[in-house]
Amino acid sequence: MCDAKRVLSFRIEGTRASLSDLLINEMEEPKQTAEDQDVQEVRNYVAAMEHGLTRLRTLPLSLRLVREIHGRLMKRVRGDRATPGEFRRSQNWIGPSGSTIETAPYVPPPQEYLDDLLGDWEQFLHKRNTFPDLIQCAIIHEQFEAIHPFLDGNGRLGRLLITLFLIERGRLAQPLLYLSAYIEAHRQDYYDLLQRVRTHGDWKNWLQFFLTGVTEIAREAVGQADHLMGLREKFRTRLQDKSKALALLDELFLNPYMSVAKAERVLKVSNPTARQAVLLLQRKGMLEEITGRTWGKLYLAKPIMDTIE
Ligand SMILES: Nc1ncnc2c1ncn2[C@@H]1O[C@H](COP(=O)(O)OP(=O)(O)OP(=O)(O)O)[C@@H](O)[C@H]1O
Ligand SMILES: [Mg+2]
Repeated sequence: MCDAKRVLSFRIEGTRASLSDLLINEMEEPKQTAEDQDVQEVRNYVAAMEHGLTRLRTLPLSLRLVREIHGRLMKRVRGDRATPGEFRRSQNWIGPSGSTIETAPYVPPPQEYLDDLLGDWEQFLHKRNTFPDLIQCAIIHEQFEAIHPFLDGNGRLGRLLITLFLIERGRLAQPLLYLSAYIEAHRQDYYDLLQRVRTHGDWKNWLQFFLTGVTEIAREAVGQADHLMGLREKFRTRLQDKSKALALLDELFLNPYMSVAKAERVLKVSNPTARQAVLLLQRKGMLEEITGRTWGKLYLAKPIMDTIE
């Protein structure tokens, strides 16, 4: 993924860990262990998405791929509910924390029905020319959440599947549509509407909710992408032929945080050269030092950050 796309992708599940936590964490020397569980969770989400995108080139969206993606999603996540890549072998229930199987608003099908249900679900996943793609996508999502095939991570996986399905169908050229932000903003409605499909057969309101979300998120993403591309053009002209600074600028569209150490790594140059490039970007108003320290300085491309936040 490049430029705007990559930065936008961080908005996907960036609600638990703040976007800055995540980007700063990512900027540091890639020491594969993020101590922060929330950051780990979001990074897993991004890794799972990237894995899905790569595999989609050779494998159809299928139960096999779903399990693989779950494996990535739950990697290094602690707890006995993680069981990466495995469908559940016990009964589960969905409800506010503390609820029991008796009090939970929804108890998914017993595990011995899973094979059949998932088999049907997969067949539906492969169906073509029956429903408009977005409608089919909304149904697939609802059914996936209703089956709730994993002990944990069903919500995240279900949201990933929305993007992957639309890519597979050629509706999205790039993973630029993340419904997560919309779902997060309307979480209670989202739960209620999933529930009402079962209790009242109320597909209409679920579909409406889903389609409204797609419209809103798509508009927003187009606006942000336009804005980022405009910024990039404007900044590039200000740098003219300064090739190191230009390379660093591109890097800022991947992650708007910068340090001299990072510039050294990215540009593969000595410390003084890296420092020069960073200072040039600072002089041109593209970077701002944000720590106020004399050592361990950290820079931020605020206009980029403001656009994605
Ligand atoms: N009443 C309901 N009926 C069906 N599915 C529901 C209902 N309420 C919630 N869900 C689904 O269950 C998901 C939560 O399941 P789970 O805890 O396995 O996933 P998660 O990825 O850990 O959670 P989250 O979605 O909060 O990130 C919700 O995101 C939603 O999609
Ligand atoms: Mg959960």
